[in-house]
Amino acid sequence: MNNLEKASRLIDEENNYYARSARINYYDLVINHAHGATLIDVDGNEYIDLLASASAINVGHTNERVVKAISRQAQKLIHYTPAYFHHVPGIELSKRLAELAPGNSPKMVSFGNSGSDANDAIIKFSRAYTSRQYIVSYMGSYHGSNYGSQSLSGTSLNMTRKIGPMLPGVVHVPYPDLYRRYAGETEHDVAIRYFNAFKAPFESFLPADETACVLVEPIQGDGGIVKAPEEYMQLVYKFCHDNGILFAVDEVNQGLGRTGKMWGIQQYKDIEPDLMSVGKSLASGMPLSAVVGKKDIMQSLDAPAHIFTTSGNPVCAAASLATLNVIRDDHLVEKSAKDGEYAKQRFLEMQRHHPIIGDVRMWGLNGGIELVKDPKTKEAENDAATKVIYYAFAHGVVIITLAGNILRFQPPLVISHKQLDKALQVLDDAFTAVEQNKVEVPKDTGKIGW
Ligand SMILES: Cc1ncc(COP(=O)(O)O)c(C=O)c1O
Repeated sequence: MNNLEKASRLIDEENNYYARSARINYYDLVINHAHGATLIDVDGNEYIDLLASASAINVGHTNERVVKAISRQAQKLIHYTPAYFHHVPGIELSKRLAELAPGNSPKMVSFGNSGSDANDAIIKFSRAYTSRQYIVSYMGSYHGSNYGSQSLSGTSLNMTRKIGPMLPGVVHVPYPDLYRRYAGETEHDVAIRYFNAFKAPFESFLPADETACVLVEPIQGDGGIVKAPEEYMQLVYKFCHDNGILFAVDEVNQGLGRTGKMWGIQQYKDIEPDLMSVGKSLASGMPLSAVVGKKDIMQSLDAPAHIFTTSGNPVCAAASLATLNVIRDDHLVEKSAKDGEYAKQRFLEMQRHHPIIGDVRMWGLNGGIELVKDPKTKEAENDAATKVIYYAFAHGVVIITLAGNILRFQPPLVISHKQLDKALQVLDDAFTAVEQNKVEVPKDTGKIGW
C-alpha cells in the first residue's frame, strides 16, 4: 500500500491555484521522476505506468537517447521562430515526417505545439484546398481543446457546455460500435448500418459538394479504444474519394507504434489519408505537433495562415528525431504488436473468470477493457472500474478509465515483460478484490474520471 502523505499536502496546496478545467480527477499521484515504464512519486512510491502520459511517451520516460538529444540541442539553440528563419532540426524533421507518412504521394508538413492545433490545421487546409466549408467528424471522438478541435470532438458535454457557439459547419456522425451491435448482426451488418448513418446527413442537409473533409480517428482513443470495421472505413474512404471530400485521420493518440503499426490508419488496407495530425509521442511529450498532408493540399494556404511562434521548436524537433530513431532501432512497432497480443490473451483469460469484463479490445499495446454489470445487458459498470483503478494504484500500477467504465491500457511501448506480467497480475487481483467487495474508494474523492 502506498503512503501519500506528501502528495496529499501538495495537492491541497495546488487546489488553491490550479483551475479545475484542466485536470480530470482520478487519484493523488504527484510524480517526481520516471524512467522507462516506471514512475516514482514524491513520497517515494514506485508504479508501473499503464498510461504513458496519455500515449505521449511511447519510447518510455527519460529515454536516454531522447534526453541526450534534448540537452545537446538546448545548449546549441533553444529556439528561433520558424515564422521567419530556419533551423537544422526543423529541416530534418519535416523531411523525415513527410517520408514516414502512409502512402506514396509526396507530402509536406506544418508544425504546431499540440495535437489540438494540428487538428485545427486540418480544418484550415481542407477548407482552403477544397473551397468548401463543412467538416464531418465523429461522436465519441476527442480531437483537442482549442475552439476548432473542440468543435470537432464529441466525447464530453464539458467541452461544449457554457462555451458555445462552437465552430460552425461541423457535423458529427456515429462511430461504429461492434461491441454493442444488435442481436444477430454480423460485422458486415454493423458496417452497413453505420455507413447508412454516415450517409444520412448527405441525403438530408449536408451537400457533399460543400463538404471539405471527413476527420476520423482510425481507432477512437478517448472514446474507449474502439475500432471501426474494415468494411466501414473502406466505404467512408471511397465515399470521400467519389465526392471530392478529403479523408483526414487523427493519429495524435494512435500513431507512432501504439497500435502495433507505425500509424493507426495502417490497421486498414491501403488507405492513404489526404491529411493527418500527429502529436503526443512525436517528441516524447515535448510540445510538438504536425499536420502532414499531400503536397498540393499543404500548399493551399499562404503565411501567416498557420504559424505559431514556438512551433517546430528545435529542442522539440531534436527530441522528435531521437524518438523516431528509438522507435525504428528498438523495433517498438513490432514489440507493440507482439506484447499487445500477449496482453490481449491475458485479458481474454481474465474475462473467462471475471464476468465484469464485458469486452477486451486491443490492437498493439493499446487496449480498452470494458466493464459491465452483466455481459448480457452490457450496462456500464462505472463503480467497479473506479474501484479497479484505485486498487491498482494502491498496489503500484497506474491505470485510468475512459467513459467511466473502460480501463485504458496504454503503457510505454518499452515496458518490460516482467513489468507487463506484474501489472496484469495486479489487475487480475483487482477484479477479484472488487468482485469480493473488498475495495473501498475514499469518500471525499469527488467525481472520478471523464
Ligand atoms: C486523438 C487525439 N487528438 C487530439 C488530441 C489533442 O492533443 P493535445 O492534448 O496535445 O492538444 C488528443 C489528446 O488527447 C487525442 O487523443
